[in-house]
Amino acid sequence: MAEAGLHNVVLQGKKRPGSDDTDGDDFMVAKKSMAFHPNPWEDPAAALASSRHEFGEHGGVNMSIEASATFTVMEPETMRRMFAGELGPDRDFFIYSRHFNPTVLNLSRQMAALEGTEAAYCTSSGMSAISSVFLQLCSSGGHVVASRSLYGGTHALLTHFLPRACNITTTFVDMRDFEMVKGAIVEGKTNVLYFESMSNPTLAVASVPELCRIAHDKGVKVVVDNTFAPMVLSPARLGADVVVHSISKYISGGADAIAGAVCGPASLVNSMMDLHQGALMLLGPTMNAKVAFELSARLPHLGLRMKEHCHRALVYATRMKKLGLKVIYPGLEDHPDHAVLKSMANKEYGYGGILCVDMETEERANRLMHYLQNYTQFGLMAVSLGYYETLMSCSGSSTSSEMNEEEKALAGISPGLVRMSIGYSGTLEQRWSQLEKALSRMQDSTLLQKN
Ligand SMILES: Cc1ncc(COP(=O)(O)O)c(C=O)c1O
Repeated sequence: MAEAGLHNVVLQGKKRPGSDDTDGDDFMVAKKSMAFHPNPWEDPAAALASSRHEFGEHGGVNMSIEASATFTVMEPETMRRMFAGELGPDRDFFIYSRHFNPTVLNLSRQMAALEGTEAAYCTSSGMSAISSVFLQLCSSGGHVVASRSLYGGTHALLTHFLPRACNITTTFVDMRDFEMVKGAIVEGKTNVLYFESMSNPTLAVASVPELCRIAHDKGVKVVVDNTFAPMVLSPARLGADVVVHSISKYISGGADAIAGAVCGPASLVNSMMDLHQGALMLLGPTMNAKVAFELSARLPHLGLRMKEHCHRALVYATRMKKLGLKVIYPGLEDHPDHAVLKSMANKEYGYGGILCVDMETEERANRLMHYLQNYTQFGLMAVSLGYYETLMSCSGSSTSSEMNEEEKALAGISPGLVRMSIGYSGTLEQRWSQLEKALSRMQDSTLLQKN
């Protein structure tokens, strides 16, 4: 009897009393969430604020962390129905946390709101989001048309790994050359057109609506990596089928987590979780609930952070150009993609928080970064981006080193290209004087080209 009594106490808080699968009153109280009724999507911050707010188990303003790997059921029949796909997370039925987890699902809903997609699911890294999407959308013998200018890891995945391991091949193209894109698509064979909304590291901006038109005319799905431009660009609202993210960058903002997301139609997300064919379920790179909890608190201030990253990047790019430096920044009017970026960008976020300076040789690039970090403390020599401190790296010898010399040349990556992810710590003028001081310390007049 004592055991039965204990059992009663333990089970009182369970969300699904009895064998009935309908939602009881207890469940509704326990659930405690505010579902807003979003207006038609017009801005990422507005969409985030209109998405469901999940409260903690005891009324906490933050959701509780559902750290469990596995979930109980009241009746064996429920388990069978969950595995048969009849009961799922939409009705608060969870199987196992490599599959859907409530805390990860909460962050995923935020990601779907951010990108204006029907659904999303979060992964353990940006690369796992990207590779899982390719493996879901392509089969052996499949074909991808991809931008020449991609993050080095993605380029290597498409150039080396997918052909060897999966017989999936890629044709690389210049995304500004629409005829080349059209010509590379093989109808009936090409599955995916893949590009970065703003490319790493060259900051080329893809014309999302035009590229989607080309791909969709030929029955090809468009997958866009929006890692460089969350809030600034919303590729799914411009026609893309799927948006992938490395959350490790701006969305995290703390340079303290590796994470990713796939945002797209519910049918795709569900297919990726399928028990027989799902790339996320079967390869297993879903996110840990504790990581999801930490990241979900950062989405609400992503818009504020992006505005400051973008504002400072524009100010520094403008001033650096005036000094005669070879600056690449799509917020500058003379950037070849400025007009297309302006036509697509969400209002009032700016034009991206990253700028590049072409120092022409690796030696000069390294000297500049050395002074900026070790002499004036303008920023840190480190890969990655989206941190509150400025991060600098010479792309050709770091994050694009997977590409050979010819591939780098085709992508427009000069050996002296310094990528700077502009931070927002300190004051804008304090940081600018550190930058100026480092430049004058270089005492290299050949840096400053007379324009
Ligand atoms: C544009 C872009 N996409 C994807 C990735 C991969 O993301 P992660 O490091 O989170 O796997 C990176 C990483 O540098 C990136 O810059």
